[in-house]
Amino acid sequence: MTDAILQVKDLSRYFRVGGFRSAGTLHATDEVSFEVAPSEIVALVGESGSGKSTIARVLAGLYPPTSGQIIFEGQLQGRRTSRKVRGRMPMVFQDPFGSINPVLRVGHSLLRSLKLHRPDLDKAARRAEAVSLLERVGLLPGGEVLRRYPHELSGGQRQRLGFAQALASRPSLILADEPVSMLDVSIRIGLLNVMRGLRDNEHVSVLYITHDLASARYVADRMIVLYAGRIVEEGTTQEVIGFPSHPYTRLLMATAPDPRLPLASDTDVADLGEPPKVINPGPGCRFAPRCPLAMDQCLVSTPTMVHLSPTQRVACYAVEQP
Ligand SMILES: Nc1ncnc2c1ncn2[C@@H]1O[C@H](COP(=O)(O)OP(=O)(O)O)[C@@H](O)[C@H]1O
Ligand SMILES: [Mg+2]
Repeated sequence: MTDAILQVKDLSRYFRVGGFRSAGTLHATDEVSFEVAPSEIVALVGESGSGKSTIARVLAGLYPPTSGQIIFEGQLQGRRTSRKVRGRMPMVFQDPFGSINPVLRVGHSLLRSLKLHRPDLDKAARRAEAVSLLERVGLLPGGEVLRRYPHELSGGQRQRLGFAQALASRPSLILADEPVSMLDVSIRIGLLNVMRGLRDNEHVSVLYITHDLASARYVADRMIVLYAGRIVEEGTTQEVIGFPSHPYTRLLMATAPDPRLPLASDTDVADLGEPPKVINPGPGCRFAPRCPLAMDQCLVSTPTMVHLSPTQRVACYAVEQP
């Protein structure tokens, strides 16, 4: 993929944890590499604690990486990356209250974003654009929603507002960290359709971060499966769902709900048991202790990603290579 808008190369982020005697290094995410193309939805799927939010925060510039590279729109990202460039890759959070000021009207922060990111617009044009942004994420009528307070919106409407806010900076990629996880199952589909609309109508890509395989299957073009901070499998949604190759992906699939009933139930893959906290890891596959196919080799060296097709890759010694 040479037209990628985002290239992540060997990205790691560690945290120092524990006290004086028990100090250790927690590997929240380890040597993660992937790309995102224009106008595609890529799902980053994994159990709670697998490192999804850490990846999003590093991409958003909230944490510096421990090592690795982020190349966004052809530019190597670093500490000096400007707000303007960061605005091209905004983040939508799980908890809309975390990012919305409750005492200000909906229009306030939206207009402020436009002031920062759209100096080309005068006051009237900014207002018109704010109305348009709201309507493009399904908040109608935009002119009326603009005057409301956040508490006058439902949870689903607040998440739509989060996407409108993200859109204000004319992004090429939105980092959406569990944007529907706190919503009732019945209104999740609407939000997932907002993401599809952004892809299809606004040519925005979305890195859709979720622990919920069913919603990833519903909305994503491609899927990346994480386990304990590492990517174990990646492919088109059809490949990963139709031909899951890593034993962990297969386990996820086996515990996911019926594909004909997407989003019908609240599947929390964390029910499988938490992945290990990765502190001072040794060599070997991190899934080996839970893996039905584990061999001696799996305990002593880390499998690297091998291609099963031009688009599907898997990191597993037990998978037969083509
Ligand atoms: N600021 C931090 N300090 C220490 N450990 C952290 C920090 N942020 C995340 N972690 C740890 O990193 C691992 C991955 O966390 P996170 O990225 O939040 O996973 P996810 O979003 O997939 O649930 C977890 O073990 C978590 O406890
Ligand atoms: Mg998270």
